[in-house]
Amino acid sequence: MERKKTCIPGVDQLIEGGIPDGDLVLLSGTCGAGKTIFGLQFLCMSDEPGIYVSFEEDIEKLKDTAAMLGWDADKLERDKGLSFLKYDPFKIEDVFDIVESNIREIKAKRVVIDSISALGIYEKDPAELRRMILQISSMLRKNSCTSIMISETMPGTLKLSRFGVEEFVSDGVILLHNFSIGGEYRRALSIWKMRSTEHSKKIHPYKITHKGFIVYPEDTVRVVK
Ligand SMILES: Nc1ncnc2c1ncn2[C@@H]1O[C@H](COP(=O)(O)OP(=O)(O)OP(=O)(O)O)[C@@H](O)[C@H]1O
Ligand SMILES: [Mg+2]
Repeated sequence: MERKKTCIPGVDQLIEGGIPDGDLVLLSGTCGAGKTIFGLQFLCMSDEPGIYVSFEEDIEKLKDTAAMLGWDADKLERDKGLSFLKYDPFKIEDVFDIVESNIREIKAKRVVIDSISALGIYEKDPAELRRMILQISSMLRKNSCTSIMISETMPGTLKLSRFGVEEFVSDGVILLHNFSIGGEYRRALSIWKMRSTEHSKKIHPYKITHKGFIVYPEDTVRVVK
């Protein structure tokens, strides 16, 4: 089976070398966990064309974050077909057609949606939201993109996603935890599910540095309740 490297040091070892080609992975975590940095790294560190779809942060802000981590987003846009798309609420009904035509135009192989939780700002009806999430996932599959869908969870809850439907339409789920241990917060990542993959079932520490997101696959975090 062909797999796509996440380009996050330490993660590919946990999932038999990468995400199965064409699969959709949910990346779930609380605010400030590093979800956007994970998504940027997945696109900027790969040599494939890709699209970053932002529902929250402005593109300039995303490019500043990329620059802080050493990636020249403007150059990547020119050289390898990296594309940043930002959506405003009034365009929400057209958003998936626009993303799809961009995927076809640049022949994108990777897509990041940041974040699926933000759709809740634009659409209040839960049934309509579920329909939209299904629509996004089937559009990404149809175009054979290996994709990361970001979901923000509330601190202290056991939910895997904001709307409780994202994990069911995804082939994989990566969770970012923030534990309080001995008076300090410890960041850790776990693979909740990854279809067709014998993945790690452990909780591994991670760090964000000026070089980006890094996971320590040999180490584990013991959670004391
Ligand atoms: N240069 C850096 N060195 C160390 N840590 C950093 C650096 N830059 C950012 N961080 C960490 O990354 C976090 C922000 O990462 P990011 O924006 O990817 O999080 P997020 O999960 O997308 O947040 P949000 O839920 O607000 O969208 C900061 O809270 C900080 O802890
Ligand atoms: Mg973010």
